[in-house]
Amino acid sequence: MYLQRRNRILRKNAAIRNLVAETVLHPSNFIAPLFIDEGNNIAFEIPSMPGYYRRSIDGTVKEVKELWSMGIKAVLLFVKAADDTKDNTGKESWNPNGLMQRAIKAIKDAVPEIIIMTDVALDPYSSYGHDGIVKDGQIINDETVEALVKMSLSHATAGADMVAPSDMMDGRIGAIREAFEQNNFTQTGIMAYSAKYASCFYGPFRDALDSAPGFGDKKTYQMDYSNRLEAIKETMMDIEEGADIVMIKPAMSYLDIIREIKNAVDVPVSAYQVSGEYAMIKAASKMGWLQEDKAILESLTSIKRAGADLIATYFAKNALRILEEL
Ligand code: PBG
Repeated sequence: MYLQRRNRILRKNAAIRNLVAETVLHPSNFIAPLFIDEGNNIAFEIPSMPGYYRRSIDGTVKEVKELWSMGIKAVLLFVKAADDTKDNTGKESWNPNGLMQRAIKAIKDAVPEIIIMTDVALDPYSSYGHDGIVKDGQIINDETVEALVKMSLSHATAGADMVAPSDMMDGRIGAIREAFEQNNFTQTGIMAYSAKYASCFYGPFRDALDSAPGFGDKKTYQMDYSNRLEAIKETMMDIEEGADIVMIKPAMSYLDIIREIKNAVDVPVSAYQVSGEYAMIKAASKMGWLQEDKAILESLTSIKRAGADLIATYFAKNALRILEEL
């Protein structure tokens, strides 16, 4: 047989495959999400996220030191607010001595160089488990944005490097940026969850923070997964309003969206491999149906190949270990 081109030449062995690999994961691509709880010396394994823990501040600080020493550059903080702090205003979210604010300070003290990103949305603080303020059964936009601005300012004051609004209210990026300008937070960034879909894949996360919506669902603010153009519109608007980084969430079922956004924007693109994606890989591996390390590496590489510059993933630590062993 005579062939002009033999594509398999570039797949002959690992050395040549590595030589021509188009997508390479790097430790600084990852953002490690962390779940934080009150108390001391608490490490609660989340039942639907085996191997992942919700920790008190002391344990979180230890974890961050380890992540930093491994090469992780950013953490994304979520807190489990105590039940008696929850209401329909979300006011605990801007308490200067709240759990989030104390966690930011403790981490900054221990590992000053790590980039601290903070989740901005009312759901952990809401007695209704919604990302916004509820009035007559509706999640109301403009009052919620005012609350999110207070929350963002309080995170910035505590020392957060970037706020990450995950609420999907209209106009919140512009309002937060304006508040940062007015209050001289000219070094604080915004990573906008720009294309955040109403997804069943957030289920385990809501177990982790006990933040499932008390009524209805999140479809009046999070996006309909049938839509593609809407993701571009949301993202473009967030960039105009002042987002430094834009995010697509979830990741694996939305690789097409990641690519389209990557092609359309001039800011870094981030993707969030969410709790349900973690749970799927963990569960199948536990059953012996998938090889965990291979599934982790393949899923993360595909997210980067789709166009994500940064990946928020519960597998950040596993990925670093796997990459080291390669
Ligand atoms: C809160 C928030 C959620 C996630 C990140 N921020 C849950 C939700 O919107 O219901 C999901 C993260 C995950 O599933 O890993 N607004």
